[in-house]
Amino acid sequence: MQPHNSNRTRPAQKQDLYALLQAELSALIEGESDFIANLANAAALLYHALPDLNWAGFYRLIGEELVLGPFQGQPACIRIPLGQGVCGTAAVQRTTIIVPDVHQFAGHIACDSASNSEIVIPLIRGDQLLGVLDLDSPLLGRFDEEDRFGLEAIAAILVAT
Ligand code: SME
Repeated sequence: MQPHNSNRTRPAQKQDLYALLQAELSALIEGESDFIANLANAAALLYHALPDLNWAGFYRLIGEELVLGPFQGQPACIRIPLGQGVCGTAAVQRTTIIVPDVHQFAGHIACDSASNSEIVIPLIRGDQLLGVLDLDSPLLGRFDEEDRFGLEAIAAILVAT
């Protein structure tokens, strides 16, 4: 694993940026089987590379709750019951959820008042739900189908470790 240089110029096109991030993540986690360490590097990579984020991180499924994992951003809610909030809903439905305006999502859990939009991607290995990847943005409508596609590929890389 080589140290990551977050200062270098990154592609402006979303699709190209995700392709680069997927390659960088694969390089970062190559040969490393510690899941928490890999989630920690992924959170740092995404937070510093993707524009307009105020939070990027993971919740891990422990029992019937999602428990705060590695993240970048302000301190966040520690435990989210399955089925609650955007994270708990994405976990139960086992599908990515894009929320263009968190203030319109019934049951949204506000951890950081700066958040206006959110995307949550479930981490699924085989048929086992491991947790979720959660990104928050201060911009309304920050996340689209390109983000979904790119971040689902990031999740696939992580669950393969
Ligand atoms: N907003 C999330 C909670 C986690 S924080 O955004 C980091 C939710 O509604 O599940």
